[in-house]
Amino acid sequence: MKTYLVTGGAGFIGSNFVLYLLKKHDDIQIVNLDKLTYAGNLENLKDIESDKRHIFVQGDICDEKLVSKLFSDYSIDYVVNFAAESHVDRSISDPEIFVKSNVLGTVNLLNCAKKAWQIGDDQFREGCKFLQVSTDEVYGSLGAEGFFTEKTPLDPHSPYSSSKSSADLFVKAYWDTYRFPINITRCSNNYGPYQFPEKLIPLMINNALQHKELPVYGDGMQVRDWLYVEDHCKAIDMVVEKGSLGEVYNVGGHNERPNVAIVKTILSYIQENVDSQVSEALIRHVEDRKGHDRRYGIDPQKIKDDLGWYPETAFEEGIKRTIRWYLEHMDWMKNVTSGAYQEYYAKMYQNR
Ligand code: NAD
Ligand code: TYD
Repeated sequence: MKTYLVTGGAGFIGSNFVLYLLKKHDDIQIVNLDKLTYAGNLENLKDIESDKRHIFVQGDICDEKLVSKLFSDYSIDYVVNFAAESHVDRSISDPEIFVKSNVLGTVNLLNCAKKAWQIGDDQFREGCKFLQVSTDEVYGSLGAEGFFTEKTPLDPHSPYSSSKSSADLFVKAYWDTYRFPINITRCSNNYGPYQFPEKLIPLMINNALQHKELPVYGDGMQVRDWLYVEDHCKAIDMVVEKGSLGEVYNVGGHNERPNVAIVKTILSYIQENVDSQVSEALIRHVEDRKGHDRRYGIDPQKIKDDLGWYPETAFEEGIKRTIRWYLEHMDWMKNVTSGAYQEYYAKMYQNR
């Protein structure tokens, strides 16, 4: 039996990953460590409430005592580190927490895992692995042509992507220095169920359903490369099982779209299938994000060639599935957008 320490497993991708793993593998145990920030939500894990293979622990990845205790209480084979502050706009207004959770938190996890797995000088227990869930944003911004490969130099621009790049460099350093067993995955933008509605797709779905304005930053022609969250989970699972130690794997499905096209796709689905009153008149171009990266585009050839990964959900299908999921989970949306969210939204958008 393999035991996973999944961090950030009550957030968007982490909760999807926990659900994916439990469905895919019978003989596993998951220790899920999550601080439950505004972005973490135990409702995301309701479907596995009574599954004994899942143990939830509320806590901070920066807490050395707690993380060490988890390593001594459980025989952890794999660490999959999702825990992070993940929103670029928040990192622009409050960068420090990004350094704490994303950089110091990752280093603390590395240290605790290194202590627990070390069996000799630069020798670690057979079969253990630390997987750092990173992002394509560490590569910076592309012009109209070309793609990010694993060899593209890191060139982050936002405090968020800088913190993720720093974490990646520490993870790489533990491989280069100690031969500590790691992989890093760098995925493009995810979408799907349980994404917090501060991110483009769920925010636009939620606003459109309420006939609220849809704030498109600048000209809306910034390009993101969208991947359905389950395809990202599949990639991480494959890298845990088969990734060559020390390697970085880019993950993406060559699905690049300008932001305004995403917004129009959402509007037309809602107009046709849910509410004919919804239209493009709701779109409002607002002040651009500071330092806004123009284009992301992943070259996923390495993970395809080396591990046999491929994306299963085409965007046309994935976006419909996602909108339908939010429609069927209006209570979830209502809960996560009550209280502090209202304050966040007002602060973020009132003067734009
Ligand atoms: P999210 O914000 O939805 O979830 C983050 C989770 O981490 C939350 O549950 C939060 O409570 C938890 N957390 C935050 N700080 C913590 C701490 N100090 N200790 C313990 N738990 C903490 O984020 P997400 O979109 O699910 O992203 C997960 C990971 O995937 C992040 O590392 C992010 O950089 C990476 N990633 C995200 C995307 C994307 O499109 N969302 C794409 C590529 C990579
Ligand atoms: P986001 O979902 O925040 O992801 P990221 O910044 O990590 O790529 O944003 C996706 C794109 O959508 C990005 O170019 C910023 C843009 N955007 C808007 O135009 N309006 C919005 O309200 C939000 C949240 C994002």
